[in-house]
Parts: sequence; C-alpha cells; structure tokens
Amino acid sequence: MHVNGTAYRTIWVKENDPTTIQIIDQRKLPHEFCIVDLGTVEDFRKAIKDMYVRGAGLIGASAGFGMYIATLHASPDSFESDITEAAEILKATRPTASNLAWAVHRQLHAIAKGSTVEDKIAVAFQTACAITDEDAEFCKRIGEHGKTIIEEISKRKNGETVNILTHCNAGWLAFVDYGSATAPIYAAHDAGIKVHVWVDETRPRNQGASLTAWELGQHGVVHHLIADNVGGHLMQHGLVDMVIVGTDRTTRQGDVANKIGTYLKALAAKDNNIPFYVALPSSTFDFNMSDGLKEIPIEERDAREVRYMTGRLDKGTVSDVLICPESTPAKNFGFDVTPARLVTKLICERGICDANETAIMSLFPEQK
Ligand code: MRU
Repeated sequence: MHVNGTAYRTIWVKENDPTTIQIIDQRKLPHEFCIVDLGTVEDFRKAIKDMYVRGAGLIGASAGFGMYIATLHASPDSFESDITEAAEILKATRPTASNLAWAVHRQLHAIAKGSTVEDKIAVAFQTACAITDEDAEFCKRIGEHGKTIIEEISKRKNGETVNILTHCNAGWLAFVDYGSATAPIYAAHDAGIKVHVWVDETRPRNQGASLTAWELGQHGVVHHLIADNVGGHLMQHGLVDMVIVGTDRTTRQGDVANKIGTYLKALAAKDNNIPFYVALPSSTFDFNMSDGLKEIPIEERDAREVRYMTGRLDKGTVSDVLICPESTPAKNFGFDVTPARLVTKLICERGICDANETAIMSLFPEQK
C-alpha cells in the first residue's frame, strides 16, 4: 500500500544489508511515520511484545524473520539449542496470535532440513521471505473474494454507498500488505464501488483510531471514526450494511478470537440481521483447536494501557494521559471469542465458507 505516494510493505529486508530487517514502528502512528531496524532476536522479541509490529499476519512474518536472524547469531557449537531457545522466546510474546507459533514452527521445520549452518541460514532466509510473500498474496486473494460480497450489496442498493463497520486494525498494517478485513474494502474502492467505513476506535490501544483511520485515509477510502459503543446504535438505524473484522486465531469449528469488543459487535449485528464477516488467511486457523471459548488463550496485557490514553497534544508532542483516579486498578483482556454461530461467513484466500467444521474442511481438505 502507499504512504504519501510511496509503496510500502510492513516488513522488509534492508537494502544492501540482509542481516537487518526493517519495520514501521506502529506505536508512533498516526503522528509519526518511523522506520526501525531489527538485527537481533531481542529486537524482534521487543518489537512483537511491545507492539511496534502487531496484527496476525505481521506477527507471523516478524516471527519468520526473527527466526532467520536467530540462525545468523546462533553459535555453530550450540546451533540447535540456540535456535530452540529463540523459538521459545518469540512464541512467548503474544499468546493469542495463531500466526506466531505457526511461523516459528514452519521455520523450525525448514531449518532442520539444512545440512550445514550455511544451508540453515539460507533456508531460514528463504522461508521468512516465503511467509512474507504468501501473506501478501493471500490477503490480495481475500480482497478479491470479499469484493464480490460488497459488490452484491452495492447492486442491491442500486449503487448507493455500502456502509461497512470494522473493529480494531485488520488492515495492511496488521499484515504484510492489503490486510484481511480491509482487503475487500480496498478492492471494492479500487473497482469504483462506493464504500464508507465506520471505524471503531478500539480501546484500550485504539488501533482503529490510530491505524485503521490512518491507512484508510492514506488510500482515500471514505470513513468516520466512532467511539466503541456506537455500533449498536448505527445498526438499529440502518446505517450499517455489513460488519467485517479480522481474527487472531480461528478454530476448526469456526470460533473466532479477535480484538476485545468484537463479540459485542457480533451480538449487535445478529440482533439487527446484519451480516458479520471474518476475513483470514489460512495461517490464522488453528486446526488443532475446536472450542474457541475453552481453548484459545486470551492475552492479558499491562493495566497501564487501560488507565492511560496516548495522544498528541494540540499540534504538540505525543503524551500519555491518566484517565482514571491515580489509585484505580484496571484489567486488560486483549481479545474475546466470537462463537461460530454469530459469524455469517469466513473469507479466506481459497474462497468464502460458512463458519463450521464441515465447510472449513471443504476449503482445507488436507486438514481433515
Ligand atoms: O493486539 P493487536 O493489535 O495485535 O490485535 C490484533 C488485531 O489487530 C486485531 O485483533 C485484528 O482485528 C486481527 S489481526 C488481523
């Protein structure tokens, strides 16, 4: 996607320096566009844990490159144990994101096949690049499939604007390119279909306000930022045609873990007969899990994210402000699970399916 007219992915190998990976520091957006170099496993651990990079696909791509960087720094005398240690460090950073363990295991499997240290480094590099390219390609295909849904609604409305509500940021910033939830929106917009997006601010970290609003603006998609509690009201008044969100982990029966608050939007959508779509690449499925409520680990983050809000003082510096009494304790659950029964369809790179095991397995028969 483009930032001020220049094409970017969210992660890439530094020009003329294959030992350094570059990312956009998403903590600084929308106020500052800042590129950061990552050159050690510790850099990757910190970048994932502290959310310089975040979102399902980008966490996976970062873990892939983190494992490649681990091969560069592993000692030839303790190569296997150094790599195992790096894998554990990276996997512990964000427990809910399925792509994280998926990418680390893909790398471990690939690295094990190399016969010399040089081979292992080369294969880890190729695998990291493959994970990254696939993520972008799969999101592009999600966009093509999802566009047909938006097109259908647009036809039904005789070409009037299609109003889409989204939660958090499942945009290109959450992946390598295009995004999952946003890919159909960008594809529809680029095809000349009139779309308008309601962007949930998404407390506590406000990924909707700071990231989704920013990237939609960069691409020229018409949107309005709304407070998290507004969606139900909009739905009751016919101002939402569809909801589309991403996911951090989806089980084989179609239960969807996504940013905290998603479940409430799914309930409101059900009550108002509004279709609720979830867009995801296959790397976000956890085919080993069935019951999302019982099995998906929900990340609990620092209470500071709830007690404080970050923002720019009028035309001034970016600051954190305390929004509760000094002594108020807070709890910070990062994700919730939307049961499959509330999901209208899943949009994947292989096509669109119902959120149940039979339909998911018909798209991914190799997982039966
Ligand atoms: O905590 P984050 O920002 O990494 O959360 C991930 C998300 O951005 C959302 O849950 C998103 O909707 C799914 S990830 C594509």
